[in-house]
Amino acid sequence: MHELALACEHLRKDHRAIEQRLDILLAALLRLTPEVIPEIQATMRDLQDLAAIHFEKEEKIFYPKLRPVASGLLDRLDLQHEEVRELERHLAQLLAAPPQAPEARWLSELRSIGIEFHDRMQHHIVDEEDQLLRLAEDLLTRDEQESLAKAMEAVRARAPA
Ligand SMILES: [Fe+2]
Ligand SMILES: [Fe+2]
Repeated sequence: MHELALACEHLRKDHRAIEQRLDILLAALLRLTPEVIPEIQATMRDLQDLAAIHFEKEEKIFYPKLRPVASGLLDRLDLQHEEVRELERHLAQLLAAPPQAPEARWLSELRSIGIEFHDRMQHHIVDEEDQLLRLAEDLLTRDEQESLAKAMEAVRARAPA
């Protein structure tokens, strides 16, 4: 039996990988000095890659399957994806060209946007697991879960390492 044969398990495993980086990000933001910026840049690059692949699996494969029975919930989760993406873009913009000697004002903007991004993403993961994955586990057959997982593994396989 393949470890990732079921769709919900596949998504939970992605969530744990994302959360691991979110923890690193938050810890760095909470002791933010100019010296920590490279660590934050590297962690954000990881998070952007992980989130892009993960959101694609959800939006193209997993959500469409559940939409007929959970359209209101999925509208809310779609909106959360958009909010997370917007914060991620803002953060990436700040990190793309940090000032050579960042001032307190710049650091405090980075900290507040970064913490907001962390909180929104973490909140979204919890909502998804408490609501959508629970529903999916009740409604989907094992065969359906297996075939969704297979389609999602193909998305990962396409992604750069
Ligand atoms: Fe999601
Ligand atoms: Fe997710």
